[in-house]
Amino acid sequence: MQPKLKSKVRCTDREVGEVTKVILDPLSREVSHIIVGGNGGPGRQVPMAQVQAVTDDTVQLRAASGDLERFPLLKRDEYVTTKEVEIAHLEDHLHVEPGEVLVPLPELERDVKRRTFFTNFTHAIGALMVMPLAFPVLRYLMKPMYAPFDNRWLRIGNASRIKTEDVGVQFKYKKKVKEAFMPEAEVDKNVWVLKASPAVLEAVYKGKDMDFKDHAGHVVWTNKRDVPYVAYSGKCPHLGCGYKWRNVPKLGRQIFLCPCHLSIYDASGTVLDGPAPRPLDPVPIRVAASGDIEIIDIEYKAGTKAQIRIV
Ligand code: FES
Repeated sequence: MQPKLKSKVRCTDREVGEVTKVILDPLSREVSHIIVGGNGGPGRQVPMAQVQAVTDDTVQLRAASGDLERFPLLKRDEYVTTKEVEIAHLEDHLHVEPGEVLVPLPELERDVKRRTFFTNFTHAIGALMVMPLAFPVLRYLMKPMYAPFDNRWLRIGNASRIKTEDVGVQFKYKKKVKEAFMPEAEVDKNVWVLKASPAVLEAVYKGKDMDFKDHAGHVVWTNKRDVPYVAYSGKCPHLGCGYKWRNVPKLGRQIFLCPCHLSIYDASGTVLDGPAPRPLDPVPIRVAASGDIEIIDIEYKAGTKAQIRIV
């Protein structure tokens, strides 16, 4: 007679629990072990050789209750239930329903590390095979990110427009821009140019010429500190809004005012008020004997204390 699930289990001296599960030998399709539980734990795995007698509702073991601990605890993850695997003609051999009948997992299935290794190995081989195809595509897609900065000189107007020292004059110009994979387009840009007094020049350059560099860190131009023309990028260093030169009677002076968050700069670009993290950004400027002004259209990242060139 086969042990039934929920049958009481008795050792030679006392009752020790009940049959919570049985383990099936998948080859002989006979019960190889009973799992004796009763206190909520995983249960002890007792071989059928230890079963002395089976009645309708009791399983009698040969061992004393004190010996029960020498039987291993059930390692549930090493088994599947007969609901998860199909075993042909199981019902002809087994009469333990209702309840959980366990079948040992094959050794290979238990070896998760080895399976993981083979899975990862297969993925690695796949990646190696795809790499030669993917690399040119990735290089093409990422090319715009590593395009060198545009250091072309752009003619923006003539210095004859500037009538007064230390007064900001806006120069508008158009620039051809090629954005990533879009066709080339012309965009409106502007800079503010000053004919600076020695005091403003000193505040801008602080006694040193100002270098401008390309993407590789090579100097492409140096603004000389004694050249009286200064040009500022038209974008506010706070968040990139356009700003204006304004006469503010209340302050008794003229200033650069950004309307977005009310950053205020003086003629040297120094921050007088507002959230701007750094002074206005000077750009490379050169003025020909004819008065023609050229600049290099440099832009820096907005919102940072340091100047980080992005264009
Ligand atoms: S963008 Fe100019 S103050 Fe914010």
